[in-house]
Amino acid sequence: MQLGMIGLGRMGGNMVTRLLRGGHEVVVYARTAQSVQQAAAGGAIASTGLPDLVSKLAPPRIVWVMVPAGKPTDDTIDQLAALLAPGDIVIDGGNSNYKEGLHAYERCSRHGVSLVDAGTSGGIWGLQEGYCLMVGGDDAAVTACEPIFKTLAPAQGYAHVGGPGAGHFSKMVHNGVEYGMLQAYGEGFEILARSSFDYDLRQVAEVWRHGSVVRSWLLDLAVRAFDEDPKLEKIAGYVDDTGEGRWTVQAAIDENVPSPVITLALLARLASRQDESFSAKVIAALRNQFGGHAVKAEARPGA
Ligand SMILES: NC(=O)c1ccc[n+]([C@@H]2O[C@H](COP(=O)([O-])OP(=O)(O)OC[C@H]3O[C@@H](n4cnc5c(N)ncnc54)[C@H](OP(=O)(O)O)[C@@H]3O)[C@@H](O)[C@H]2O)c1
Repeated sequence: MQLGMIGLGRMGGNMVTRLLRGGHEVVVYARTAQSVQQAAAGGAIASTGLPDLVSKLAPPRIVWVMVPAGKPTDDTIDQLAALLAPGDIVIDGGNSNYKEGLHAYERCSRHGVSLVDAGTSGGIWGLQEGYCLMVGGDDAAVTACEPIFKTLAPAQGYAHVGGPGAGHFSKMVHNGVEYGMLQAYGEGFEILARSSFDYDLRQVAEVWRHGSVVRSWLLDLAVRAFDEDPKLEKIAGYVDDTGEGRWTVQAAIDENVPSPVITLALLARLASRQDESFSAKVIAALRNQFGGHAVKAEARPGA
């Protein structure tokens, strides 16, 4: 079937390739002309902007938005909703906050446009492995988009999980779970690395992949990472986030769900970004004040 794709980055670009391979016709737009040209060279139909993209689609139109979550996604959806006609569908495949997604759904509804939220997982491997799709939205709109979802997903990797917002919410929790799993692997490998046994971490990751209770795709990736850099000496221990972990923790608090693993994994990421902990300084200073406990001197640059 025919659809538009806005955003041709790590996700959108590969998704266009998978859709073209699946026999779909894809009209593409990204701000960088080079990305558009690259997609067109692979068989997509180029467009010069949102009005041009919309004009190249036959109604009822389907447009997938795959740009950074937050303002870029919101602005793109609003511009599209104003250009589209009643009965058209916008799919937000980004990691949008589900609450913002619900606001966007309402704004689209005013134009008669249905917003479908497709929580998408698979990263840069999705092109070959397929993308796991957790889709929320109105029944009719989701059903209309199913051929697209089925091409993008591996077998059984697509589900209509609920009404508007349910896709983004389930993707958010998925990423929260990912935080906990990453943290557990990270801690496990650090304990191994610091022990007196001089482990080959790649070897341990490899053996855990076969028949063990903790085998997983993340371990497959750990083997690749240790292959590239056996002691991870080229990588700083600084872990970024794009919001889903903190939203999951907030949702857990809102629902009175104790979620210590995900919460601590989020806090560990925040700690990873500090060269020096001011709270630790305060604790050291107070212990020194009340108990005379020793403090370590600040390491001065160049000293
Ligand atoms: N990467 C992942 O593993 C992953 C997994 C699941 C979901 N997601 C979600 O998928 C979405 C896209 O992620 P990505 O990894 O593909 O990002 P990306 O590689 O940074 O690509 C982003 C795309 O959006 C465009 N863009 C950036 N800022 C924009 C703006 N202000 N207005 C309009 N377009 C803009 C970029 O265009 P130009 O380059 O032309 O500026 C580019 O085509 C995000 O919402 C992300 O949360 C990512």
